[in-house]
Amino acid sequence: MKSESMINYATYNDYKTVEKYSKVNSLQEPERKILELLKPALKNMRMLDIGVGAGRTTRYFSNHVKEYVGIDYSPLMIERCKHNFENRPDNIKFEIIDVIDLSVFPDNYFDFVLFSFNGIDYLSKEERQLAFKNILRVGKNGGYFSFSTHNILSVKNLFDFKKQFTSNPKQLMRNLKTWFRLKLLYPQPDKLYKNRDYVIFNDGSLNFNLLTFYTNPQIQKEELSKNFTCIKMFDSNGNIINGNELDTVNDNWIYFLCKFNK
Ligand SMILES: C[S@@+](CC[C@H](N)C(=O)[O-])C[C@H]1O[C@@H](n2cnc3c(N)ncnc32)[C@H](O)[C@@H]1O
Repeated sequence: MKSESMINYATYNDYKTVEKYSKVNSLQEPERKILELLKPALKNMRMLDIGVGAGRTTRYFSNHVKEYVGIDYSPLMIERCKHNFENRPDNIKFEIIDVIDLSVFPDNYFDFVLFSFNGIDYLSKEERQLAFKNILRVGKNGGYFSFSTHNILSVKNLFDFKKQFTSNPKQLMRNLKTWFRLKLLYPQPDKLYKNRDYVIFNDGSLNFNLLTFYTNPQIQKEELSKNFTCIKMFDSNGNIINGNELDTVNDNWIYFLCKFNK
């Protein structure tokens, strides 16, 4: 594992992180839209839920599909899933598996692969490429792949003092603390995002314990189009992002839904 991946692994395999993820149970707006779109077909699908965490998405997808496998490289996360879904039927499984080695699964096995809530952004660049390759191998031609990824066009917002203001005093304090610490860590923030296709940096998530991959949405779309078709992109409100908005969209992360084309 590369050093950035080791830092992230240690954070995700930490009891406090598992607790935090256990408390979040709602779907994000784009995930809601994706569930709506796929729902009619889910009953015939085998689903792989990568980076399942404490099982937030399991609640919404596992009962609709023919077979559900939730995987995570964090043993503590998988332990929590097994506990939370103790009385699950046999077609719902959880396994400790790193996305960079999906060799236990046959080729073309899954009809739907999900890597939700930016899980893919906690891999190094090389591991990310390997993850895409592995996902492509286990996904069925014509099946679906969905994931979200951080948007490099949003990095400037993290350093914009005015953008930290909110009417909630506790949130305001948290934002200002994070802003200040970020400014100390990165005194020249322009260098993080200007004229770059991607950047891996500490954006303050989980109390500054993660290194996160941010990429340019247009570049991500072009990369995907080599092996996927029908690419749809969603903003944080679940609205479709059109191709001509890709240069200006500044949501923190973007959801992709596409079909395996192999
Ligand atoms: C941001 S959390 C999201 C958890 C869950 N999907 C959710 O939405 O609540 C990212 C998850 O991806 C997992 N993850 C990160 N890198 C991974 C890898 N290489 N293989 C498998 N899981 C990974 C982490 O352990 C963590 O549970």
